Amino acid sequence: MRILTGIQASGKLHIGNYFGAMKPMIELQENNELFTFIANYHSLTSSTSSELLRQYTHDAAIDYLAIGIDPNKTTFWVQSHVPEVMELYWILSKFTPMGLLERAHSYKDKVAKGIPANHALFSYPVLMAADILMLDTDKVPVGKDQIQHIEMTRDIATKFNNEYGDIFTIPEYIVSDEVATIVGIDGDKMSKSYGNTIDMFMEEKALQKQCNKIVTSSTPMGEPLDFEGCNLYNLCSLFLDNDGQKELQERYKSGTEGYGHFKKYLKELIWDEFVEAREKRAYYEANPKIVAEILADGASKARAIAKAKLEIVKTAVGLI
Ligand code: ADP
Ligand code: TRP
Repeated sequence: MRILTGIQASGKLHIGNYFGAMKPMIELQENNELFTFIANYHSLTSSTSSELLRQYTHDAAIDYLAIGIDPNKTTFWVQSHVPEVMELYWILSKFTPMGLLERAHSYKDKVAKGIPANHALFSYPVLMAADILMLDTDKVPVGKDQIQHIEMTRDIATKFNNEYGDIFTIPEYIVSDEVATIVGIDGDKMSKSYGNTIDMFMEEKALQKQCNKIVTSSTPMGEPLDFEGCNLYNLCSLFLDNDGQKELQERYKSGTEGYGHFKKYLKELIWDEFVEAREKRAYYEANPKIVAEILADGASKARAIAKAKLEIVKTAVGLI
């Protein structure tokens, strides 16, 4: 089965991103044909600086390779390195009713948040459709906020197919219900925009400092602690199997340790979880040529598929 994931590069990754999006993605590459790209044309719609866009694109490449995207299993590239997607985007625009785009929640939300309304932001879903349809994608794993975009892709593809025959594969979305929302240091959903994240690749000292800020109850030292509904416990348990969780529950109940001990414990758990990823990240950071080669190789594989598809599409509509 062919699966496509698009990554919006927007800065430092946090533990919510890791458990909510990255870890499930890495697991998919074992039994599927996984295509993953960094959506820098999409990021351009909300970019405020060329330097940042370049930096975020590079960082996303390194982060995803570090966390386990295996270029031998997964086709991994940067969106703008496969320019065929732009041609397809224009052709698909002809099959995209204005009303469909006008109903897009994501566009309305972004404008409401103060992002200037421009054509790229408005036609964002058509480019996303081009990403997906260009590669005959079967399934697209997305967060809930992206479901409507996949539905729009299906509409556009169906409209095209009704006119020209069975040219596009109609994709389906996968939304994982099991992935719980990870809470931040203040107990709300962990998110960059709330400033409550624990980033994956923090320095050791900064990581401990961030763990120390986790909000807990004010039960005094020496009394048993309640693990249920405790942010700190919930964060620790992400890194623990069943036995580990039971053991931690006992430590909470014993009354011999305070939250300070568990904050140290959480820091150790996070630090240990990413030992290998940190080493790989340092390696790729020191070897930008290797990263560039991996991305170029991915782009050339994706491009071969895209070119063939585009030729079929252009022939169908009369451009060839
Ligand atoms: P942020 O809210 O920090 O800006 P993004 O919106 O860039 O994060 O999220 C990127 C991916 O990470 C999405 O697929 C989203 O589902 C996942 N994700 C982000 N925050 C969390 C969280 N707190 N819990 C679970 N998954 C998350
Ligand atoms: N819009 C997606 C997001 O914000 C990123 C994306 C761009 C994407 N093109 C895609 C996701 C194609 C899946 C398939 O997360």
